[in-house]
Parts: sequence; structure tokens; C-alpha cells
Amino acid sequence: MLVLKNEVVLNDKKFKILIYPEQIQEAVDKIAKQINHDYKDKKPVFIVTLKGAIIFAVDLLKKIQIDCEIETIRAKSYGSGMVSGGSVLISQMTGNIAGKDVIIVEDIVDTGLTVFQLRRELELYKPNSIRVATFLLKPSMISNPVEIDYVGIEIPPDFVVGYGLDYAELGRNLPAVYVLKE
Ligand code: IMP
Repeated sequence: MLVLKNEVVLNDKKFKILIYPEQIQEAVDKIAKQINHDYKDKKPVFIVTLKGAIIFAVDLLKKIQIDCEIETIRAKSYGSGMVSGGSVLISQMTGNIAGKDVIIVEDIVDTGLTVFQLRRELELYKPNSIRVATFLLKPSMISNPVEIDYVGIEIPPDFVVGYGLDYAELGRNLPAVYVLKE
């Protein structure tokens, strides 16, 4: 049986539990329902941003009941630190998305820079539409003009790990979300 830890230590930092697995699944269900409804006559392409969004995407996509395609893209802005880096590296571009309805799947929107730049880059491939689904959102941190269409859970502007999110590449496998302990 899986025992959920209330606290975890990753390298030199301590984290405490913030969001429990049941709350995560409720958030994923909510987004899946909205997308199933909004795209019922469409065949969207989900573009999963690696690596952070993989766990969210796996749970979300299993609940998508319409025909869809799945692509991945790599977008990196944090490096090994805890502050958004200010530049985004996009690589491993997807297949052909021209004329298609794209849904970007993100783990977390912090300053909004990653989504802002991703959108701009993907628009060059002439999709029919682009929407964004994010597991977590730090509303008070947003400093870029981005529209986020589907949000799982809003959180305070603190550093979190787990459910795909990492601290220096550790913690992605945690089944809950943990926040940095002061
Ligand atoms: P943004 O470009 O500032 O919106 O940052 C988005 C990216 O930064 C996410 O895709 C994550 O990879 C990373 N990130 C932002 N906040 C956190 C956090 O609290 N923990 C771990 N990674 C984060």
C-alpha cells in the first residue's frame, strides 16, 4: 500500500504536503469534463510540454473521450533553480498541426512566459486554434499577457514539487504536490 508522506526532503530542501492525490484527481476530472464538452465535434491535438506535464497529461488523456492526437514538446525555463529563468528553450517540435485545434498541456503557469512563447512559436505552424490547459496556476505571478483556458488548481506564489514538477530534477514522481518549507 502506498503511504503518503507529509514531508519530503529533496537535496537540501524540505517540502510539506499542499495538495492531496484526491484533490489532484478532482482537478483533472474537472478539466477533462470541460474539454470533452468543448471539443465534442473536434479532434484536438494535445501538445504535452516535457517533462513537467507528463504525469498530469497521462491522467488527463485517459479521461478524454473524443478522438484526439498527442504530441510532445520540450520547454524549459527554470534550470536547476527556483526562479523562473526568463527565457524559454523550445525543442523537439511536433508533427504537423496546420489547421488543427491545439491544446497545450502544461504542468504549471508561473510568470506565463513559457506559455506566451510557446503560443507564439506554435502559431507559426498555422493551427486553427490554440488553447492552454494547466494543472497548476500561480495567479499572482503572471506577468505576461496570456489566456489560460483550463486551470486545475490555483496556488500561492510558492515553489512546489510533485506530480511531474521537479526541484533540480527530483520529486517529479511524488503522487501529491508539496510546497517548500520556510
Ligand atoms: P513560467 O514560464 O514562469 O510560467 O514558468 C513555467 C515553468 O516553470 C513550468 O513549466 C515549470 O517547468 C517551471 N515552474 C514554475 N513554477 C514552478 C514550481 O513552483 N515548481 C517547479 N517548477 C516550476
